[in-house]
Amino acid sequence: MFEEAKWITAGNRMGEISPEFKKKISFEKMPVKAIAHVTAMGVYELRINGSKVGDALMTPGWTSYSNRVQYQSYDITQQLTETTQIGILCGKGWALGNLGFSHLSKVYCDEIAARMQLELTYEDGSIETVVTDPTWEVWTSQILDSELYHGETVDLTTEPLCVGFAAEKTGITASPVLHVGEFVREQERVTAKKLIITPKGEKVIDFGQNLAGYVEIHVKGKRGDKIVLTHAEVLDSEGNFYTENYRTARNRNVYVLSGGEDVFKPRFCFQGYRYIRLDEYPFEEIDLSAFTSVAIYSDMKRIGYFHCGDERINQLYSNTLWGQRSNFIDVPTDCPQRDERLGWTGDAQVFCRTASINYHTERFFQKWLGDMMLEQTEEGAVYGIVPVVGELTARISAAWGDAATVCPWEIYQAYGNKELLRSHYDMMKKWVEYMHRYGDEEYLWMGEPYHYGDWLSMDTTENDVAGKRGGTQLDFVATAFFAYSTELVIKAGRVLGEDVSYFEDMYKKIKKAFRAVFMKDGMSVIYPKCDGIYHKRPIHDVTQTTLTLILRFGLYEEEERQAIVERLVQMIRDNGNRMTTGFVGTPYLLHVLSENGYADVAYDLLLQEKAPSWLFSVIHGATTMWEHWDSLREDGSFWLTEMNSFNHYAYGAVCDWLFGGAAGIHVLDDGAAYTHVSIVPHPDRRLGHLDFSIDTGHGILASAWCYNGNELRYNLTIPEGTVAEVQLPGGKVSSLSAGKYLFVESC
Ligand code: BGC
Repeated sequence: MFEEAKWITAGNRMGEISPEFKKKISFEKMPVKAIAHVTAMGVYELRINGSKVGDALMTPGWTSYSNRVQYQSYDITQQLTETTQIGILCGKGWALGNLGFSHLSKVYCDEIAARMQLELTYEDGSIETVVTDPTWEVWTSQILDSELYHGETVDLTTEPLCVGFAAEKTGITASPVLHVGEFVREQERVTAKKLIITPKGEKVIDFGQNLAGYVEIHVKGKRGDKIVLTHAEVLDSEGNFYTENYRTARNRNVYVLSGGEDVFKPRFCFQGYRYIRLDEYPFEEIDLSAFTSVAIYSDMKRIGYFHCGDERINQLYSNTLWGQRSNFIDVPTDCPQRDERLGWTGDAQVFCRTASINYHTERFFQKWLGDMMLEQTEEGAVYGIVPVVGELTARISAAWGDAATVCPWEIYQAYGNKELLRSHYDMMKKWVEYMHRYGDEEYLWMGEPYHYGDWLSMDTTENDVAGKRGGTQLDFVATAFFAYSTELVIKAGRVLGEDVSYFEDMYKKIKKAFRAVFMKDGMSVIYPKCDGIYHKRPIHDVTQTTLTLILRFGLYEEEERQAIVERLVQMIRDNGNRMTTGFVGTPYLLHVLSENGYADVAYDLLLQEKAPSWLFSVIHGATTMWEHWDSLREDGSFWLTEMNSFNHYAYGAVCDWLFGGAAGIHVLDDGAAYTHVSIVPHPDRRLGHLDFSIDTGHGILASAWCYNGNELRYNLTIPEGTVAEVQLPGGKVSSLSAGKYLFVESC
């Protein structure tokens, strides 16, 4: 593909303006088939006779551009006319716009470039191709500037001009590959809820839902009049518009009216927001119906549904769904609003299972893991973000790099695609080998300088950026994950029929080494030889996270288990039924409690309203997950400006416990795609009732329970092709195949 097509650019004549590359073709005979294959360094829209083709946004998507760039194929047979104007309108996108918190730009290319091959088939079977080359014209457009972080400026009074012919661009290393991911499209449309005039006199519109996308505005006004709008996720304690947590991202759209009926929305960027401020607006009256907030995200099929008798938990679930929608825009990102929006591997690793239950994420992750494979170093290292951007983000960390084993395994468990797992298997092994070879201790992963640790945990001193580097020893986390990843390689290898004896042996040795230095008398302990450059930070022998990881990753001996769980419960109780865990410990905490006989404590944490807790943000009006447990504090002040997103999905991983713990459906190691599951529900009267269902691809699998006086009723639906090992709290155990079942226990 694209052999004859050249990369073309505007030859540095455009400044910030979005160029459109144009070519007119005249047909004597109309082709019976016309397929256009298009890509860009930047983002593009294919236009035929001035109209956009298709409804995908932000094409060609974000990949590891130094290795590959996707192209999209469009059937444009129906749109062709005797004389057809083909246009490729481009923006800077990820390849050229500002990217990353180190304020880089032109990370992947120094000028917007486009490439296209049009294949025309005629009735007699002959084929003709039209390709991008220096005979294409370069035109200015009405998009005067467009930046992912900063917003878009559109002037409908300007007339696009031809500035000459395109220049050929050489030296682009990205090979074009056919689109592998999901297309980003417009999804939910949210109406404006209210107009607020803030104490500062700002005109603010509240849409009632934080999301990622853009505001579509329908207006008719005077030619040349201007609308300027800025976005925000929250208002401050006084009720004024608050944008400081966006850091340098301006999130500001500027529109100049044509004088006719205008519809404005950005083409090549999006914002993360709940509110907009009208900095300039040419009308006295603000008609809210002119404004619609449009969510955009990768078009994945929704497959999981949850509802229970506690509205706060339902809101938490909704916040998680919105966190996923906002951050699954082609790449799994940390947040969709500030000058970051990067493919942080740790965040994705933590949230992968929840995400894959909410939506069918197979293609979405296939694409991203494909980039991860391309960027894995020869030694096997996987960076903190994928696609990697600049040196800072090339840091390597435990629980982040482990996305290389966790995500492939979770995707396999969710959808059962063995070939996909096979394609990831080498990456998984190489990552484990990286940890194995690092440093002088073969079976401990020690001394890696940039671990993020139990990121954002609450058990360090206030000055330590409120737990930024956690109270849990970094090398403890690293070695625990080394063991976990090795275990996942073993599981994957068994599924694939590989010889895993080498990794089984390695696992035993890691566990032994871990226990020798990080455990004493059946409890976790600090290993004084550890923790490289951060050795001066306050760390503790025992933290909620150390105990959680020991339990979750099976690093204990059976006789130690009870004492470890009891200590964990005691620590939670001593902290007022609250957790201190960060990114690393939190996703597993409720699981280890319910699996070890303390479902009531898991519910105490789930239903806790005081920070740190999930419901703290819910009762304070959150509509998405917050980055930090108290991003907005009780007294109305904000947590750290520079790390304070209100739309970070990581802690939404708690839903994986709602599905797998409370409803109790868990995919067994030999039961990928829900063919063999366990159903071990953990009911609690405080929720009243709970319903969870998932479309497995071979039918609906559902677990529901309901308290009714002194009766507890369980309704289970098992689809064809699934065997469920059921264990109810009252002791009933059975192996069920397809059917609908009702069990009643007294309580
Ligand atoms: C991101 C996180 C990410 C972290 C790495 C932050 O800036 O927003 O979610 O995982 O950096 O430590």
